[in-house]
Amino acid sequence: MTDTGIRPVTGIISAQRQREGAGFVVRRPFPTGQVSYVDPFLLIDEMGPSDYAPGEAVGAPDHPHRGFETVTYMLEGEFEHEDSAGHKGTLRPGDVQWMTAGGGIIHAEMPSARIRRDGGRVHGFQIWINLPAADKMHVPRYQELAAADIPVGRSADGSAEVRIIAGEALGVSAAIDTRIPITFQDWTLRAGADVRIDLPASEQAMVYVFGGALRVGDGDQVVGDGQLARLGAGDSVRLRHAGSGPARALLLAGKPLNEPVVRYGPFVMNSEAELRQAFEDYHSGRMGEITRQATIG
Ligand code: FE2
Repeated sequence: MTDTGIRPVTGIISAQRQREGAGFVVRRPFPTGQVSYVDPFLLIDEMGPSDYAPGEAVGAPDHPHRGFETVTYMLEGEFEHEDSAGHKGTLRPGDVQWMTAGGGIIHAEMPSARIRRDGGRVHGFQIWINLPAADKMHVPRYQELAAADIPVGRSADGSAEVRIIAGEALGVSAAIDTRIPITFQDWTLRAGADVRIDLPASEQAMVYVFGGALRVGDGDQVVGDGQLARLGAGDSVRLRHAGSGPARALLLAGKPLNEPVVRYGPFVMNSEAELRQAFEDYHSGRMGEITRQATIG
């Protein structure tokens, strides 16, 4: 910790570009060959931005999850989702879906029918957050928040704005309820912005820049587009605008679980035996299936 309590940058990870699901492109700081997870966060995917021609857009058709939470945050475009518990809906720009997969769910996440047919831009995030052992087999739960219902904070001089999906900043608290303490905020910083965000010392923190550039902490190092800054000990985070044009960044933090992480694809458990059980339960249909109405004609 610095003597001011501001968290220093301890490392920078550059996101890797790769294909996910049925072939959509993501920028992924982790998991990669170098970093498997940053407790309690298991995965950060920036989906796109991708500009699809008519008939080209792809997503992630029916697939299972067990043992963690998936958070989908749309920036541009539309995603449709449906699942084995009968939930169905459309995520539009600024909307958040916080899904606690718990003991198991099958879901489909696809660009909307309109975007699949007409083409269009899709940009957003999917982030996986681990669940403690005691909650891994919890019944699945959804929290959906429309863009208009996400609390927004602004700095006194108007140079910084934050959409608070989880946690609190600038005196504003989130509407989402999380299983463990989590901070998930979308910051926009313009020229001159210099903000300090109180964050419990018990949470592990990081900043992912997805537009423009920032200085994080008291140091001079600039964190650029597609880079994740991992932060060390302290009780606050300092973000300063750098470069030209607005900067966009996610501030993510959470209390580490400090439990074994045994993962394979869509399942994240505490032991090999639990992982085998997850595959067995999925293949024998115990995670359910998505019921769809047959279309005629
Ligand atoms: Fe999924």
